[in-house]
Amino acid sequence: MSEPEIVIVADREAGAVEAAARIAKILADAVEGRVRAEWATTGGSTPVGIYKRLARPPLVDAIPWAAVQVWWGDDRFVPRDHPLSNVKVLDDILVGIARGEEDTAGGRPGGVPLPVDNLHPFRTGEAIAEGRDAAWCAAALADQLRAAGLASTDGWPVFDLMLLGIGADGHVLSVFPGSAALDSTELAMAIPAPTHIEPHVERVTLNPAVIGAARQVLVVAYGSDKAPVLAHVFGTERDPRRWPAQLARRSGATWILDEAAAANLPR
Ligand code: 6PG
Repeated sequence: MSEPEIVIVADREAGAVEAAARIAKILADAVEGRVRAEWATTGGSTPVGIYKRLARPPLVDAIPWAAVQVWWGDDRFVPRDHPLSNVKVLDDILVGIARGEEDTAGGRPGGVPLPVDNLHPFRTGEAIAEGRDAAWCAAALADQLRAAGLASTDGWPVFDLMLLGIGADGHVLSVFPGSAALDSTELAMAIPAPTHIEPHVERVTLNPAVIGAARQVLVVAYGSDKAPVLAHVFGTERDPRRWPAQLARRSGATWILDEAAAANLPR
């Protein structure tokens, strides 16, 4: 069975250091090998510390930002400037530091030359403003992926890097246990607001099959609330319908877990 690399670190600080270093290397290597790097990033709280480290030396200088294209694996169906948006965290921290806004973590103002045209979020704000629904928003993103040459008519997009968080229920992207997304052939789709986990807002997500197609997958999970589900994800039973995060239990993936999250894993 092909298994991922599991890296266990002391805490979320150490996890952010480890994840940011790996992201910088993956992006730089992709640009060196293929001229551009296609990165699908995540939301939630996990990217905050990672983005702060990517925005400051030495990593900020190690990444050829102009050649990095940023996509999102999923988003909440809210405008980009909404506190729940998965894009806002990147706008505020990675790009915000570049705009010279206050950064208490020592990011270098003006140091992240990530062109605005390189950001490809789900067009949630436009959809909401024009009275379109989340399904339109997902279809629009699928069209963008095809137009960018990332997805052929019969294939999944191949990202150089997918950065993922997981939920305590075993979700990954916005694909919850038992989700219809697990049987879908659409590149991207709308997901009804979950009732069992916050935030209770409608989502848009890429098809979880893209996790299997990505060149590199980096999963980052912190905290004791993730420990019970991680025991299942890395247990003997394979059932991504129950634990969608198992789709990232594959070779070519790296899981960065803090001690608290890894507490129930065999050592
Ligand atoms: C979302 C995220 C989701 C997230 C996990 C982990 O839209 O909710 O994409 O998949 O990554 O829930 O969230 P934390 O990073 O906050 O633990």
